[in-house]
Amino acid sequence: MSDSYLQNLFAERIGGRDYGKSTAIYKFEMIKRAKRAALAAHPGAEIIDLGVGEPDEMAYPEVVAKLAQEAGRPENRGYADNGDDVLKEAAARYLERVCGVPGIRPESEVVHSIGSKAALSLLPAALINPGDYALMTTPGYPVFGSHVRYYGGLVHQLPLLESNGFLPDLDSIPAEVLRRSKALVLNYPNNPTGAVATPEFFARVVGFARKNRIAVVHDAAYAGLVFEGKPLSFLATPGAREVGVELHSASKSFNMTGWRCGFVAGNERLVRAYADIKDNSDSGQFLAIQHAAAHAFDHPEITEAIAAKYSRRMGGLVEVLQGCGFAAVKPKGSFFLYVKAPRGAVGQGRHWEFKNAEEVSQWLITEKLISTVPWDEAGAYLRLSVTFAARDAAEERRVLGEIGARLGETAFEF
Ligand SMILES: Cc1ncc(COP(=O)(O)O)c(C=O)c1O
Repeated sequence: MSDSYLQNLFAERIGGRDYGKSTAIYKFEMIKRAKRAALAAHPGAEIIDLGVGEPDEMAYPEVVAKLAQEAGRPENRGYADNGDDVLKEAAARYLERVCGVPGIRPESEVVHSIGSKAALSLLPAALINPGDYALMTTPGYPVFGSHVRYYGGLVHQLPLLESNGFLPDLDSIPAEVLRRSKALVLNYPNNPTGAVATPEFFARVVGFARKNRIAVVHDAAYAGLVFEGKPLSFLATPGAREVGVELHSASKSFNMTGWRCGFVAGNERLVRAYADIKDNSDSGQFLAIQHAAAHAFDHPEITEAIAAKYSRRMGGLVEVLQGCGFAAVKPKGSFFLYVKAPRGAVGQGRHWEFKNAEEVSQWLITEKLISTVPWDEAGAYLRLSVTFAARDAAEERRVLGEIGARLGETAFEF
């Protein structure tokens, strides 16, 4: 690209005049490049993709049919703005039936989102002034933090450690950070650890938020995807509605990532502020999509069927990895298995040493044609997703067998 005065106009938040000039390669780009290189080196070979962060299947036919029907209704054609009552009411029913949260008022305590990512990108505008802190867990989904920084705020990272059940240690936060903190962002079932929260932890969060005057944003994008018991909503915690909001999404729970629809529910003031920011940012999701999503939220048995599939696959993957020496433990939810990365590998007369999970992930794609996502933020771990492509249970078993066969040629050192 030739030099242009436009280069000097970029805001500091995206790199200022150096925007676009960095040669650093980000993690997901590294994975993409390694996949392309592995395919080029082994034309026609099967790459097993355990790196994907979205469902392998389509939305259920009844939801697609509902969209088609709603798309044909003239009254749905225009700007949706902050939405009509349909999704708001379905959200309140969903929270009561699925999450055990009674009495959410659809008209004042729910507003739709164009997916949780969009909601996470808007909420910082409602809370963060320059110099304010957001408390966020790491490893984790970074979107809220990126926008906190855009507004001149700071992010204090709370590591998620196996020794603590992948729950953050709220007592570890320095007093000065706490004093300047406006938001605590949590996500359970968690990406990438697969951990779920406990009612005791959420009760502690409510007390912590009240005491320190902090807003809680609970990202429940994987809410329904649990492998035992009922989904646990932050909003079911006594006092939660006084301190925070919860973000739900049709993306993962109903195989609807591309549809871009979810909702924000909980504290009325926070919901109103979110709605105001949203109203100044977008004109709402297409009502036909909102109505189809409402149909999905009214049919939680869809999520239960999806979760049962992931649970079956997860059980198989855990068994395969344990057989290869990994300390794999079946998570309680999400579709991610988070396992400690090996420090070395021995096989076919060779020995490899790994400095971090990033190197293991690169090695797995290069040597085994298995794609994973590395996380080095709080120990060296790999994230393996059970949303790999397999059209039925027999194909799943074949893929799992193939993973076992490829890894089984190597002895791993931990
Ligand atoms: C933790 C977490 N939050 C939010 C999202 C975004 O979800 P949505 O499709 O609803 O924007 C994802 C997607 O990967 C995620 O992992």
